[in-house]
Amino acid sequence: MSTVEIKDLHKSFGSLEVLKGIDFTVETGQVVCVIGPSGSGKSTLLRCVNLLEQPTSGRVVVEGIELTDPDVDIDAARRRLGMVFQQFNLFPHLTVVRNIMIAQERVLKRKRAEAERIARENLEKVGLLEKADAYPAQLSGGQQQRVAIARALAMNPTLMLFDEPTSALDPELVGDVLGVMRQLAEDGMTMLVVTHEMAFAREVADRVVFMDQGVIVEDGPPQQVIGDPQHERTREFLRRVLHPGD
Ligand SMILES: Nc1ncnc2c1ncn2[C@@H]1O[C@H](COP(=O)(O)OP(=O)(O)O)[C@@H](O)[C@H]1O
Ligand SMILES: [Mg+2]
Repeated sequence: MSTVEIKDLHKSFGSLEVLKGIDFTVETGQVVCVIGPSGSGKSTLLRCVNLLEQPTSGRVVVEGIELTDPDVDIDAARRRLGMVFQQFNLFPHLTVVRNIMIAQERVLKRKRAEAERIARENLEKVGLLEKADAYPAQLSGGQQQRVAIARALAMNPTLMLFDEPTSALDPELVGDVLGVMRQLAEDGMTMLVVTHEMAFAREVADRVVFMDQGVIVEDGPPQQVIGDPQHERTREFLRRVLHPGD
């Protein structure tokens, strides 16, 4: 059973065609990493999957529900998707635990006590239970990103989307965030991850998708796409990412 099916997805902004017919699936429990140069359309792809952007044409099906169907209940469908961005977007005036409760109460209509219990469970999962009553500004960037992950998990998503979750972090903080993501993957979460962390993709991904200029150039297991790429564009990208400055 596949959690996500993307079929012939196109997206244009005015005359700029950013996605030029994207096809792929994410099977339930799989981790798919999307890699590719800046501007290749990776963020647009994720934003089309959760309909933050309206695709120009094509289909996005999540758990058998076609999100691109004009009659679909978008809010209900989108609730099944957890999204983690480069920027954490925590409310600065709310404590960590309140940050994780607010959407549970407003969107899922959970009672305050239940929302708090679930918030603390998820904080424990990301190793930050002791920060529950701190404010975001008292946390490092890596800790804030782990809070953002806990916030997404508290909504019981069936799919987690990550858009370069470690790109805004100081290098020494990247490992803790990737560690949380690795644990999620081991626990069986279905994940679609845009990342430049090749070691993570190699070790955690079931499949790696290499995108360039709005198309998928290669899609396969990491040992193939990263370890033995078949296309020159993939090889050139990997050379630049793995050996910057050469
Ligand atoms: N809302 C938008 N309006 C116009 N152009 C956009 C918009 N969002 C993205 N683009 C353009 O689409 C292309 C792909 O962007 P993006 O999906 O962010 O790539 P990536 O995440 O791979 O760096 C870029 O040329 C970018 O300028
Ligand atoms: Mg991007």
